[in-house]
Amino acid sequence: MSLVADRPAATFAPSKVMNTPITPAPVSDDSSAGQPAFDRTYIQIQEFSFYYGAAKVLHNLTFNIPERQVTAFIGPSGCGKSTLLRNLNRMNDLVDGIRHEGDILVNGHSIYDPLLEVIALRKRIGMVFQKSNPFPKSIYENVAYSLRVAGRNGKAELDEVVEKSLKGAALWDEVKDRLNESAFSLSGGQMQRLCIARAIVSRPALVLADEPTANLDDAYARDIMDMFRAFNEVGVTLVISTHDQDLINRYGGHKVTLAYGKQVV
Ligand SMILES: Nc1ncnc2c1ncn2[C@@H]1O[C@H](COP(=O)(O)OP(=O)(O)OP(=O)(O)O)[C@@H](O)[C@H]1O
Ligand SMILES: [Mg+2]
Repeated sequence: MSLVADRPAATFAPSKVMNTPITPAPVSDDSSAGQPAFDRTYIQIQEFSFYYGAAKVLHNLTFNIPERQVTAFIGPSGCGKSTLLRNLNRMNDLVDGIRHEGDILVNGHSIYDPLLEVIALRKRIGMVFQKSNPFPKSIYENVAYSLRVAGRNGKAELDEVVEKSLKGAALWDEVKDRLNESAFSLSGGQMQRLCIARAIVSRPALVLADEPTANLDDAYARDIMDMFRAFNEVGVTLVISTHDQDLINRYGGHKVTLAYGKQVV
């Protein structure tokens, strides 16, 4: 069955997400002081190289990522998009035999600062994985889960945050009458938006999304890019990876093109 035919008429309106539970943009580092709000640097990649064992897969990357925009890592399969994305919240630390050279600063602070708590860093950054990966739980519990883990179990608070997050991910209207059904009963595009709702539940200022529009038809891709731009308006910086050169050309954003782990200028 076509995803287009299943798609509800209006799944997104920017006004719907203006009250999402997302914190305002963090204050930028000194190096970007004085720049207009939407051009401030939020992430600085500095002479960054990355190795899996002996294999060097990222080569001396140096560039800035602006605050409150969608920045897309673009390039062919295997060029290092996911590796670079996973370095921004140090998810790659979980792989044996990795090492890096250079530095990455988020909001002016090195993510490799020995005093930084990596688990806390990961919790502060929302992550949407390429393959939708809902937990084997209800739609409601998928969103509420991380709050419960943090010891926040009050029903009124959970109800409110779940509703706001699902509205923020433009999914509320489609699921509000079936919150207790399994997340696996959702369509592919709905599951992707559920994972986005889960990623924004803890009010991150930075969201990483690995191929968020892969395998989705154009209409869903457009909804997701519209949603991301609305997140920008409430202070969120997005970094995504994509194969789709046209996506950013069509929907706007900042492009960083990679080939064989090198930046293409
Ligand atoms: N866990 C890992 N261990 C060893 N090598 C890896 C690992 N993950 C990725 N690589 C290698 O690193 C290189 C970059 O892979 P990466 O997944 O970052 O590319 P990508 O641009 O995201 O590709 P795709 O578009 O297919 O998702 C590839 O050569 C890949 O084989
Ligand atoms: Mg990838």
